[in-house]
Amino acid sequence: MSRFIINGGNELHGSVKIQGAKNAVLPLFAASILTEDKVIIENVPNLIDVHNMSQILMALGVEVVRYGNLAEISATKLKSHEIHNKLAKELRSSIFLLGSILARQQYAKVAYPGGCDIGLRPIDIHIKGLRELNVRIVERAGYIYCDATKMHGAEINLDYPSVGATENVMLAAVRAKGNTIIRNAACEPEILDLQNFLNAMGAKISGAGTSTIKIEGVEVLNGTTYQAMPDRIVAGTFAIAVAMAGGEVKLTSARAGDLNSLLSKLNKTSCHIAFDNDTITIKAKENRYAVENIATQPYPGFPTDLQAPMMALQAVSDGICIMTENVFENRFRHVNELKKMGADITTHGRTAVIKGVPRLTGSEVDAQDLRGGAALVLAGLNAQGTTTINDIFHIDRGYENLEGALKSIGADITRVQ
Ligand code: EPZ
Repeated sequence: MSRFIINGGNELHGSVKIQGAKNAVLPLFAASILTEDKVIIENVPNLIDVHNMSQILMALGVEVVRYGNLAEISATKLKSHEIHNKLAKELRSSIFLLGSILARQQYAKVAYPGGCDIGLRPIDIHIKGLRELNVRIVERAGYIYCDATKMHGAEINLDYPSVGATENVMLAAVRAKGNTIIRNAACEPEILDLQNFLNAMGAKISGAGTSTIKIEGVEVLNGTTYQAMPDRIVAGTFAIAVAMAGGEVKLTSARAGDLNSLLSKLNKTSCHIAFDNDTITIKAKENRYAVENIATQPYPGFPTDLQAPMMALQAVSDGICIMTENVFENRFRHVNELKKMGADITTHGRTAVIKGVPRLTGSEVDAQDLRGGAALVLAGLNAQGTTTINDIFHIDRGYENLEGALKSIGADITRVQ
């Protein structure tokens, strides 16, 4: 299994282009099957999750051709409406294909995606929202059987602003008869990217980015060419890397507006930050101070996907940070790995108390999940000595060529097969 070897202590200087957003591109791929025309999506990162989504689409009879960071998707010959167990388990976020398969095929049979490293990941909110669109759903023997022959628009109140459930309902409703209103919708920027993409295909959606989304059902959607938004979590990860390693780095193709909750905290405690419409410049301050309280929330609150990288920073910040993970129930699996590197962290349920130490110590650690693995890379950049990170396939799910980008700005990091 591949691993990273990092010799800590190098400052980071230079510029990094931020990749396209994994969590925008995955729903855009799902939305691409809503038309029989060819769709071109630009700024597609080369990631394991995107590859798995492509495999699932091709198993449905969709043509997916990749040219570097561009994808051409043609669902002219969409022939199946089934997502089998193996594929659904490999990419649990394939569940929001359910909405687009129903909109196009009227029927769907999708294996339960099941839980993952960070939690049980139930889909009750997805199911409830689709049922409110009058989709008939039977759950049997690990599969979800759906009949959308009588699907129609509806007023839907989500019990929780679930990102995936919001996307699933949007994808089903966009071609449903009548109008749909989604209340308590997720407000993440990736939802707005999906709205912009669907409207470029001829949909009539408004309100994405707020908690109320309005969808006017249309008969037909057309092909389009669309550039996916930059990955705010990858940009945030690099910003935290600079805070931990020191130096000054310009993040290009990065939208500061998507990262207000992180950048405001970094600005107060560890970095000087400047930005314009598509770059963010991060300059580490001499001293790093703890952020006293961090609680993850749905957007625009502090993002759960940056909880682990931020914990690594707090582990080497002067003072005490109380961090609460409100979104997922099992997202502290990086704590024990950080403690192997000398971090002083105690957890009580969903709360972690982090007492900053001056510097971490290189060690052999294991990535447990995507963002926790990224946190260990950041810790290695700061640590005294050499850090070996095993199971880096987790990291490759969401970060394109992480070691190459870090090396280009001065980090001493090597991938070893
Ligand atoms: C999306 O996951 C992202 N994934 C996650 O990113 C991200 O952490 C999450 O949104 C929150 O921002 C993609 O977009 C592919 P949710 P999703 O539905 O849609 C509970 C990463 O690292 N819930 O908003 O699954 C759920 O268990 C990944 O890139 C239900 O109870 O997130 C969780 O506790 C990790 N029932 C909370 O809601 C449901 O039907 C938030 O989940 C759905 C969700």
